[in-house]
Amino acid sequence: MGPLFLWKRIILEVGCGAGNTMFPLVATYPDVFVHACDFSPRAVDLVKMHKDFKETQISPFVCDLTVDDLNLQIPPSSVDIVTMERLTCKDQMISENFYVRGDGTRAFYFSNEFLASLFKDNGFNVKEIGLCCKQVENRSRELVMNRRWIQAVFCPSDAEDLSSSNHASTEVDLPSQENTESSISLKASKEPVEVDMSEGVAADMFGISSSVENEIIQVSLNEENLSIRVLSREYQHTCKSTGLMLWESAQLMASVLARNPNIVSGKKVLELGCGCGGICSMVAARSADLVVATDGDKKTLDLLMQNVASNIAPPFLDKLIVKSLEWGDRGHIEAIKEVNDKGFNIIIGTDVTYIPEAILPLFATARELISPNRGDEEDQASALILCHVFRRVDEPSILSAASRYGFRLVERWPAGISGNSSQGVVGSWFADSGIDKHSFSRALSIMYFQIE
Ligand SMILES: C[S@@+](CC[C@H](N)C(=O)[O-])C[C@H]1O[C@@H](n2cnc3c(N)ncnc32)[C@H](O)[C@@H]1O
Repeated sequence: MGPLFLWKRIILEVGCGAGNTMFPLVATYPDVFVHACDFSPRAVDLVKMHKDFKETQISPFVCDLTVDDLNLQIPPSSVDIVTMERLTCKDQMISENFYVRGDGTRAFYFSNEFLASLFKDNGFNVKEIGLCCKQVENRSRELVMNRRWIQAVFCPSDAEDLSSSNHASTEVDLPSQENTESSISLKASKEPVEVDMSEGVAADMFGISSSVENEIIQVSLNEENLSIRVLSREYQHTCKSTGLMLWESAQLMASVLARNPNIVSGKKVLELGCGCGGICSMVAARSADLVVATDGDKKTLDLLMQNVASNIAPPFLDKLIVKSLEWGDRGHIEAIKEVNDKGFNIIIGTDVTYIPEAILPLFATARELISPNRGDEEDQASALILCHVFRRVDEPSILSAASRYGFRLVERWPAGISGNSSQGVVGSWFADSGIDKHSFSRALSIMYFQIE
């Protein structure tokens, strides 16, 4: 019998995030063992780095429940309690009640009845279900917020002994956090309660966001270090703008450009949806003739301009222009053409294809702005380079939009995901480049298009 069975209760926390529910829980109930999963590797890393993390008490792992098999991580029928939190920030609608939040993760909106019937259909009895209303006050910000949760306890319908459900009480006391002045109590109550929250916890759990809450992250690229100001981690998942963060695809592509300056050397480069980091554009400006870094979001562009100003200096700074470009916007496209009416040799987009409705305007815009140069050599012809997190995009839609606007997929990386397995232009970027491919998620993909 393994050590897991020595613990009194086994909990599975689905979508653990940075552990803001789990750490108070294990502090309150030191006997529990928690399997904590999230589809974001970064969230799982944050859990592992938390000061209260103990391997003997918490098993964090990356898992996308919609595709991965949980039983590879957790023995069947070994979990007593499953917890999951419903988050409440609407952004892009995928289908009825189903949205992509600002950070690309998903939110599904449901009623008590829907939840109860879903669990019933899957072999659980509903022990308790109710709405919990709180009034949350952040005194330092002079904010009072009304928040509502569904709190529920379910037990397997075939379990004879349901005594364990006593432990899965809807009442959870969260201890005050060490080293903070905050004191929070989520004891379920029919009466609204007033709670003063620390800002970080309040943002994580209750959706406060602020445009001034930035942090600086260091990005090392082939002996060059960039200090990039982004929206603080604790505000990211409540923010609608995805451009205020730095995404993994940008870091991969910037590493590729830093180690392969020939990709952009002497060329005119356009970055679409570059976000506040703009690291691909900044790296490209070291070798390219001209770089135009664009985004459709105003706040993102403001932060991007700060990042550009604080990271690069003339003569590279003189070659980098920041412009507003919402894909498909005629006025914006014409304004870019005024900067360069000959077209761009290289167009880059990292993590810009996750919104299905934006894929066609993205390709339409790229087609209008790409140089018609087909080049004698493959690596001299104009190219559109897209890098994305594999599971977050609908690749057939990308390919169909590409072909509609006259783009041909020449190559993809890693090779062999579908079809083309040649080690052509993209493959050569990785050969002997020193890029630590393993430090990037295996879910990243690069698509290299040229015009037909
Ligand atoms: C997921 S972020 C990626 C940011 C950056 N490329 C990176 O990888 O860190 C997507 C970016 O695309 C921008 N964007 C989304 N839809 C857009 C549109 N229709 N027109 C222009 N920019 C758009 C967002 O503002 C955001 O900056």
